[in-house]
Amino acid sequence: MDRLRGRWDRFQARPEWDFFRCLHRADRKLASTWWALLVLLGMLPAALAVTLGEVVGAVQQSQPLTVPLALLGATFFAMQVFAPLHAQVGTNLGSRMSAYLYDRLMDATLSPPGMAHLERADLSEDLTLARDFDQGISGPPMSISMGFIAGGLVAIVSGLGSAVVLAGYRWWAPWLIGGAWASTHWFLRESSVWKDRQTPEVMEAQRHADYAYRLAVDPPAAKELRMFGLAGFTVKGFAESRKKLVDLRYHATRLREQSVRWALLVVLAANVLFFWMLAQDVAAGRLALGGASTFAFACIGTSAIAFGGLNWSLSLAAQVVQAVLRLEGAMGTAGALRCGDRNAQGAPAHAIRLRDVRFQYETGSSPVLDGLDLDVPAGTSLAIVGQNGAGKTTIAKLLCRLYDPQHGTVEIDGVDLRDFDLESWRQRVASVFQDFVRFELPLRDNVAPHGAPDVDILAALEQAGAGGLAELDTVMARAYPGGIDLSGGQWQRIAPARALCAVRLGAGLVILDEPTAQLDVRGESEIFERILHATRECTTILVSHRFSTVRHADRICVLEEGRVIELGSHEELMELGGRYRTMFDLQASRFTEEEDDVIHLD
Ligand SMILES: Nc1ncnc2c1ncn2[C@@H]1O[C@H](COP(=O)(O)OP(=O)(O)OP(=O)(O)O)[C@@H](O)[C@H]1O
Ligand SMILES: [Mg+2]
Repeated sequence: MDRLRGRWDRFQARPEWDFFRCLHRADRKLASTWWALLVLLGMLPAALAVTLGEVVGAVQQSQPLTVPLALLGATFFAMQVFAPLHAQVGTNLGSRMSAYLYDRLMDATLSPPGMAHLERADLSEDLTLARDFDQGISGPPMSISMGFIAGGLVAIVSGLGSAVVLAGYRWWAPWLIGGAWASTHWFLRESSVWKDRQTPEVMEAQRHADYAYRLAVDPPAAKELRMFGLAGFTVKGFAESRKKLVDLRYHATRLREQSVRWALLVVLAANVLFFWMLAQDVAAGRLALGGASTFAFACIGTSAIAFGGLNWSLSLAAQVVQAVLRLEGAMGTAGALRCGDRNAQGAPAHAIRLRDVRFQYETGSSPVLDGLDLDVPAGTSLAIVGQNGAGKTTIAKLLCRLYDPQHGTVEIDGVDLRDFDLESWRQRVASVFQDFVRFELPLRDNVAPHGAPDVDILAALEQAGAGGLAELDTVMARAYPGGIDLSGGQWQRIAPARALCAVRLGAGLVILDEPTAQLDVRGESEIFERILHATRECTTILVSHRFSTVRHADRICVLEEGRVIELGSHEELMELGGRYRTMFDLQASRFTEEEDDVIHLD
């Protein structure tokens, strides 16, 4: 009993059911039409066997042929018309299904307010599968898969339909012939063509092949590939991973000879027995020619059972659906943040305070910030300095509430940041990160993605030293008509303009995390001076490795081993003679040696 229940549970838990449920959600009408046509198409071979028998019977008994022939013609006509119609409905339904799954995936990735869900290594395989399924990389696109899926289902229905017709001959005939053809599924279960197609090994080979391919065809790697002579290495990597992929799949799908032999033997024995009985009955006059013809055709038609069923394409498509469903659940939890409903209007009015903050990335092995205390009075500017990996960007991310600390609090005017309504807080923050996004959109939208009056956009560009770079309508990518490609440094003048525009629209906290590192020393220093001037009413937090830049800030904090080790104005820290002084002197001596005339340090 328990075994039976276990099997039933496993049957119910099959991913295919999720696929069919999603098919209905993707487009109820189209899915119902698809199913109706599928059943109809499946029944037609049985109908053909019966009507053909009627024609043969009428000929033998010299009866009128009009009705039998009309029925035969109608069945044949239906076969000719419904098959392509079903294929077309399936293609459309497949496209709807792709769109539906992509919508759900975008929802899963975009709706969590945090971003930890996008960094979870254990979700990366599902994410790859859910993202690339329609590009024909891991399997056929959904619109094409629908044809294979339909093929398997139509075949099983038509095989069963023909088997039912056999019951008109002898009660055991459907069991004998249907059972023989069905047994092939059991004999060939080890050779099932869909088995093991998406094992972790397959996915890994797939990932390596994709990576090598992207290296070869995407522009960003073009320079290094050429300069380091890596073309051969990349092609070799691609070829090896593809070969591994093909080998793994071949191994998973090849037929096992032994089981094929047994399957053929059973099928042959059942058919020989059936046709021998049929011949006996016809010879003895127990069965008319019409009936014999119907049952012979039905017997042949029953063979479709062997070729039908839930095939590999359904299995692949169902895996995609399951990946999306899993991602929805896991990402929702991983990217969730507790949010209050306090309005952040006017914040920060007094101070931003980080109290005993400990933060560790989920994939990290140790805390990035540990016991961090930091006060930033509202309306002042603070520069954060520290070595690579010290946690400067992490502080910026915590202030933007992309993550929450595991311990301690980030307080705004004495209120835990988590008590604020997230949207209203983020509207208060204008942030530009090291890896700021470069929208392939007009300059206007790059400066004000949310929209802003042209006068504010132009003023922000001017303030950032990017006035006259391009018209506001110029698309920032050469791939578009009239579009232009900007240099790295030019982009780095647009990024601060984005923050400055947000300030003009009312943001109260400006966070600049090295958005201008590509500018020359003088350029960055000049931009920061401009920014600090333009944001003197706001609270500004800036991250930079250049001391000529950070010295403009009201206060500077030095971050080391997850906490603040020095805090004060440039003069105070210089006086202190600690870490800041050492780093400053080191950089200053380099510059005085190399660019004596470029920057004046004291
Ligand atoms: N998403 C992440 N998942 C896991 N670890 C991360 C993640 N982002 C950063 N880290 C790790 O956290 C530490 C701090 O990173 P962070 O980006 O805050 O440093 P940073 O001070 O901004 O460095 P840099 O000067 O190089 O920009 C680093 O060791 C980094 O490897
Ligand atoms: Mg950083």
